[in-house]
Amino acid sequence: MPLKHSLRTAMVAAVALSLPAIAGTADFEPGEDLPGGRTTTSDQGRNAFSYPAANLSVDRQTPFFIGNSFFKKNWVEAPASTTGRDGLGPHFIARSCAGCHILDGRGAPPPAPDGINTAQPVGLLFRLSIPATAERPAGKDGVVPEPSYGSQFNNAAVTGITAEGAVEIRYTEQPGQFADGTPYSLRRPSYRLHDLAYGPMHPETQVSPRVAPAVIGLGLLEAVPEAGLLAAAARQAEEGLGISGRPNRVWDAGKQDWAVGRFGWKANVATVRHQTAGAFHGDIGITSTLFPHEECMPAQTDCLERQQREAEWRRGRGEPEVDIDDRTLDRTVFYTTTLAVPARPDARDPQVLAGKRLFHEANCASCHTPRHVTGDLPGYPELSNQTIYPYTDLLLHDMGEGLADSRPDFDADGREWRTPPLWGIGRVKTVNGHTFFLHDGRARNLMEAILWHGGEAEAAKSRVLGFSQAERDALIRFLESL
Ligand code: HEC
Ligand code: HEC
Repeated sequence: MPLKHSLRTAMVAAVALSLPAIAGTADFEPGEDLPGGRTTTSDQGRNAFSYPAANLSVDRQTPFFIGNSFFKKNWVEAPASTTGRDGLGPHFIARSCAGCHILDGRGAPPPAPDGINTAQPVGLLFRLSIPATAERPAGKDGVVPEPSYGSQFNNAAVTGITAEGAVEIRYTEQPGQFADGTPYSLRRPSYRLHDLAYGPMHPETQVSPRVAPAVIGLGLLEAVPEAGLLAAAARQAEEGLGISGRPNRVWDAGKQDWAVGRFGWKANVATVRHQTAGAFHGDIGITSTLFPHEECMPAQTDCLERQQREAEWRRGRGEPEVDIDDRTLDRTVFYTTTLAVPARPDARDPQVLAGKRLFHEANCASCHTPRHVTGDLPGYPELSNQTIYPYTDLLLHDMGEGLADSRPDFDADGREWRTPPLWGIGRVKTVNGHTFFLHDGRARNLMEAILWHGGEAEAAKSRVLGFSQAERDALIRFLESL
């Protein structure tokens, strides 16, 4: 019998007898089942993303729960009878933080049963800009906003104001197959912004779709020392495996300084505080001392007039002109900083450990860096000096043409994305009832998310394409255990 044939017979026999088809597992590392260190919580159910850090003292939980109420509440149009709870719009996308970060988890693209969306997106927003030039540099926004619509597309507005327009999403199926012949299909999205209220957009408009990520463990990520991130970038360059992450450098409105970016799909924000105030401003139309002016572009006269009237009402009532005071912002920031990461009860399972070995073998870990030790985050002793397992390097990587949005964001170019943390990714199905992944939710499951990897991650993806069914199952089981 030719050798090749006998090998195949042996393999078929192994499968038939259901002998272990994967050689070896990785060892369980003490602590990896508690990805948030001492902040880790145990609930694996629908509320798995909604707990405060487990080591917050009872009195420190009070600001958390007050912050939670600001995160969940629907803001209303001004003027309303309840002061301090109004200020929505003029333009906005959602009425609350929780409207996009559902149960502190992840948003989803709208349903598209026949490959076209049947509703307007909420948890998926669209950032806008035009190319920067010597005459119009990007500056502290990191981009040059589209002249008539600003830096974000607002498909909702308060009474009497026109929404900026609507979004059409079309998906085209793109078939492929694994090395063993198993077919798969990826859906490639295309986006069209239509029913534009303020005239045509600039011909060079750049559009970046971004889905709302889960908001767990963010204070821990802010506490990872900058030196650690720069060291990871240096290590990748040294390894010479075609992986060359680099930090984004962004303007922080709170610190009034440039800093390493950590949050958002392109690491375009440095701190949870900036991100929280920026979300109030950009997504809900709520101004604060960090972002005191609504984004009404010169062409948006209804928006400008409305803003003027609101300022007059406020003055008449003797209130500050911004929608929320620093106390409200601080509480919300405390909340988004201390939301905990759930534990991994299955971390010792043999199939999970086999998947973990394959994850390392395919070099996924080079970008999705498993372990970090946090430094000191001022004001948050609970989050400081923790060994954490977020599975990210927080660096930007060229992910290839397939995922490119062609829209730069500070130092990130149109092909680069930040490695997203993978902790909690296995709980998304339970918490949010879906498995849409990647920056625009195009992937319908974890395997599709991997198959979209290109650019610096091309080699890692190729390894997965060569995996057997049993190996693919183990890899996915590992991701689901995170
Ligand atoms: C319209 C939907 C929407 C609303 C409303 C919204 N967000 Fe977000 N949020 C997003 C998107 C999209 C991102 C990713 C942004 C990016 O990549 O540029 C994000 C990112 C974040 C992040 C960073 C998470 C990470 O892992 O990088 C935090 C923190 C956050 N939002 C907090 C809030 C808070 C607080 C509010 C309410 C004040 C809020 N968001 C309202 C959609 C939303
Ligand atoms: C070169 C760096 C790099 C490598 C190597 C890499 N990834 Fe990623 N990964 C990323 C980036 C960047 C994204 C976000 C891309 C996007 O959303 O467009 C991502 C996204 C993901 C997501 C979706 C996360 C989410 O929140 O939606 C999963 C799952 C994932 N990677 C798993 C893997 C696995 C498994 C491997 C190894 C086979 C791997 N990655 C290798 C950088 C990398």
